[in-house]
Amino acid sequence: MKLTVISTRKEILTLQQHFEAAVVLDILRATTTITTALSHGCQGVMPVTEVEEARRIASQHDQVLLGGERGAVKLPGFHLGNSPLEYRQQAVKGKRVVLTTTNGTGTIKLAAEKAPVVLIGSLLNARAVATKLTGFNSVLLACAGTQGSFSLDDTVAAGYIIKELLAIKGGNNYSGQRLAAKRNGTDQWYAAEVPVDNALTDVVLNDVAVAAYRCALYYGDNTLAALYDSLHGQKLAQLGMDDDLTYCAQLNITDVVPCYKDDVIST
Ligand code: MLT
Repeated sequence: MKLTVISTRKEILTLQQHFEAAVVLDILRATTTITTALSHGCQGVMPVTEVEEARRIASQHDQVLLGGERGAVKLPGFHLGNSPLEYRQQAVKGKRVVLTTTNGTGTIKLAAEKAPVVLIGSLLNARAVATKLTGFNSVLLACAGTQGSFSLDDTVAAGYIIKELLAIKGGNNYSGQRLAAKRNGTDQWYAAEVPVDNALTDVVLNDVAVAAYRCALYYGDNTLAALYDSLHGQKLAQLGMDDDLTYCAQLNITDVVPCYKDDVIST
């Protein structure tokens, strides 16, 4: 398996290749919110890039909840913001949600241009996502980023998914990747010689993926520290949304892996 991590939404536009599957990561908070909504019985989430488009789509459907934010704050006239804590069973069970967020929802739509299968990832479902990925040969982990730049929260989550994937695949030593690439006869840029005695895996990572993986190893069980270290985490904390950080930091609490197809995210 060849696994590519990108750090920002706009990088999707520069990718030349297509992938068998993509996972979108916007840990604070869009993809955590979507995972939560679907774990709580939401019928489907329709991701929308622009606010006015979301209002229009919601107005054309009966009994649809309108959710989303700009600048992390709930939009005027919307039923819900973008806090996963709002997407409890009482609010979303059996309902459909039209969701627009600053980065996350647009990233989901762009990812769909690069892969026929688009999954929604978070720390909440990292292991379940990794399990789903095992059958694919080429995978994109698309981090939404923050304000057009690398964001620690998304990238570290990519690392946790990689860590789970390696555990499933039976290799957890990344000097093994170059040998794996060599064995598979893949790209020359993996040509460096490495000792043969390292654990081998058939997962080949790009360098951002290696950094993400190392980052996840660094934070270990303390996912919350990673979220507080991130720029967007600090912004949410300043807005008094510490409870969102605590919630979003939970690792492997659900097996639900939402999937985007035909404009709707469902399970
Ligand atoms: C986004 O899509 O940019 C985020 O989820 C923003 C947020 O609500 O924290």
